[in-house]
Amino acid sequence: MSLLRVAHLSDPHFGTIRMGVGEGLLNILREVQPALILLTGDITQRARVDQFKAAKYFIDQIGSAAVIAVPGNHDISLGNIYERIFHPYKGYENIFKQKLDQNIVLKDLCITCLNSTSRWRHIQGDFQHSYLEKQFQENYSHCKVRIVAFHHPMDCAKHIDDKNLLKGRNDAIALFDRHNVDMVVGGHIHDPYVNLSSARYPHIQRKIILSVAGTCLSSRTRSGAPNSFNLIDINTDLVPKITLTRFDMDSTFHFMQKEIYNFSRDSTLSWNCDSSLIVPD
Ligand SMILES: [Fe+2]
Ligand SMILES: [Fe+2]
Repeated sequence: MSLLRVAHLSDPHFGTIRMGVGEGLLNILREVQPALILLTGDITQRARVDQFKAAKYFIDQIGSAAVIAVPGNHDISLGNIYERIFHPYKGYENIFKQKLDQNIVLKDLCITCLNSTSRWRHIQGDFQHSYLEKQFQENYSHCKVRIVAFHHPMDCAKHIDDKNLLKGRNDAIALFDRHNVDMVVGGHIHDPYVNLSSARYPHIQRKIILSVAGTCLSSRTRSGAPNSFNLIDINTDLVPKITLTRFDMDSTFHFMQKEIYNFSRDSTLSWNCDSSLIVPD
């Protein structure tokens, strides 16, 4: 059996970290030992140097897991117009020493990291069509499972968040379908959500897993959505399977399993949810 474990964290917003949450998150990450930590943006609250330094300090304590990240809208300076226009990703690049978009291959898994932010937009995410086409030019069909990661969500639980969904989401999902993407992960709205693409995008051929992670560390939580993160276990065997487990922080700063989804891929490369479970308190 070929198993890969990815911890999907999002929206820590360093500069707004709740006391005690960081230690709780470090403890659970050391316990579950992911091979990779995937951080989908809003790493800082205001893209300040001290906030990026705090993020780096936290990441350095995680342990041996590789960390890859994509920027969020909060990772571009808002008040410093010169920096916003001429060096929008300086803080991000100083810490992660990574390109803004890249394909990471880990055994049979490919993670395509995309940048859905822009120096010209404050909040909403979008992709230029040419940008997306370029990112999918290279052939990764030798990978058995492909995950796409960017900050802005493709789906959400509440109608009020529809305005925060990726602007060009219909074009994007059609392209993801064509390139046999298995799962799309993001953040931004601080309200965790998992569903198959058929719910919001019934017109595309395959069913793709769409997942949004909550905020892992910030005090900017929403009602009914405490700090959380998703653990994604990917089995790249003949019949690929994905188990997504959401961990919510409890009142004693422990991250506990809250929801578990089991997905499997069928012969048409479409995903189905075999079971889901809400873990009682
Ligand atoms: Fe955020
Ligand atoms: Fe955001």
